[in-house]
Amino acid sequence: MKRFYVTTPIYYVNDEPHLGHAYTTVLADVLARYHRLFGDETLFLTGTDEHGQKVQQAADKRNVSPQQHCDELSPRFAEVWRRLEISNDFYIRTTMPEHQKVVCAILMDLWERDEIYAKEYEGWYDVGEERFCTEKELVDGKSPAGNEVIKLREKNYFFKMSKYQQRLIDHINANPDFIVPKKRANEILGFLKQPLGDLCISRPKTRMSWGITLPFDEEYVTYVWFDALLNYFSSLSFGYDDDKSGDFWPADLHLIGKDILTTHAVYWPTMLMAANMALPKTILAHGWWLFGEEKMSKSKGNVVKPLDTMDLYGRDVLRYFLMREMTPGQDSSFSQDLIVERNNGELANDLGNGLNRVTKLIEKHFEGKLPEGGDYGDPERELRKLAEEVAGRVREEIRDYHPNGAITEVRRLSGAVNRYLEGKAPWRAIKQEGGREAAGSTLFHAAEALRWVGVMLHPVMPEKCAGLLQRLGQPEPTDFDSLLTWPLLKGGDPVESGDPLFPRYDLESE
Ligand code: MSP
Repeated sequence: MKRFYVTTPIYYVNDEPHLGHAYTTVLADVLARYHRLFGDETLFLTGTDEHGQKVQQAADKRNVSPQQHCDELSPRFAEVWRRLEISNDFYIRTTMPEHQKVVCAILMDLWERDEIYAKEYEGWYDVGEERFCTEKELVDGKSPAGNEVIKLREKNYFFKMSKYQQRLIDHINANPDFIVPKKRANEILGFLKQPLGDLCISRPKTRMSWGITLPFDEEYVTYVWFDALLNYFSSLSFGYDDDKSGDFWPADLHLIGKDILTTHAVYWPTMLMAANMALPKTILAHGWWLFGEEKMSKSKGNVVKPLDTMDLYGRDVLRYFLMREMTPGQDSSFSQDLIVERNNGELANDLGNGLNRVTKLIEKHFEGKLPEGGDYGDPERELRKLAEEVAGRVREEIRDYHPNGAITEVRRLSGAVNRYLEGKAPWRAIKQEGGREAAGSTLFHAAEALRWVGVMLHPVMPEKCAGLLQRLGQPEPTDFDSLLTWPLLKGGDPVESGDPLFPRYDLESE
């Protein structure tokens, strides 16, 4: 059996969940749901990143312990994910003692094998970014992020990252799927043309004490990124019923935003090389959600809160929009107008109308029982052929991590159903002498094609597609293959129209 292990970044516990976070998490969820339908043994991990200076500062400001601060804030993410119907198998928090144990074991091993060493260091420190900057990096006396820097001299512990530079370059060149899209791999290869330094992995407790104590020096805590990246591996040993480290490592897919590419595509793989562990198969860096021309971010105050959007249009419309609109790797713009446009055009008109017509006619003329399929003519054979072709393409698009491509494919089928209905006009045929059988057969084939649409879009819109399938007397899909038998529906199956599945929205009235 194939295995599929997908992760999201673990979110800074201080941040308020916004649409950018929701996108990565829904993307992981949709891919995980497809892989489950394909029959792959699937693990999907998300969680929160809870150590470091900013958390300590925020807790100090509120006069609570950092642990209490995290315990209060972490559930905000979990709650948004629950409402977005996110099907993660585990939710890791880096303050979990089991995670800390794994981090310590790996640190100790690296220390004992001289992959980590101590050194006195003096340099420019960016407090906001929690990192030292080299002299060369400074721009007008400020850090590359534009923050004030202070001169600091201290002993620290360093991971011998430079030792793995060539191996990393070779790995990227030999594995075109390791960093996608390709332009991000090129960016990293460009970065690796300069000599790679070693990575400072400690912080003296005198300066910052909120972190995992180094197992070989009690006066230091672990650098937050070294701790956070290990979540992808640590959770496997304690997050599930049995220890999955042996079965699910390496991860198949780390989903990240392009701002955290260096940590994932340079720090993380070299850490794994030093620990003699396999590298993840793919790191996919997606682009930004923009509001107008600007990146959405808390500091700019232009963030869209996922729950607000969900309250307006419903969870599945938001999930559909996020998946349909962004090509993983590129930037996308968010606007209410665009959500309404996609909803009214693609969901209410294309998909909803077809379903409505079919179920209403069956209710009205066939007492809510699916008519018999009868003989296949060319249009029916074509519809079936297209459905099979689309199902194959959906599989490929998902294996390539392109849910938007999968959605485009399924839309070809729902468009074809509408054209088929227009061509056959069962609403006219039914009124003609002897036309009942022909009309019934048309409705049967249209219903069967819509069933395929419901199965194929279920990972994107679980609730809506369950509703679609229910109207055709079908249960929720558990398996892509067996459900894609044509036809699976049988004459006599119960059909009901119910409320319109995809209401139209009017922007002005909001
Ligand atoms: N805690 C680190 C990740 C550690 S993973 C071992 C972190 N957290 S974060 O909360 O700041 O960001 C999480 C993710 O949200 C990142 O992948 C980031 O790229 C993404 N996004 C933040 N703003 C975004 C947009 N406007 N659009 C799309 N994604 C964005 O970094």
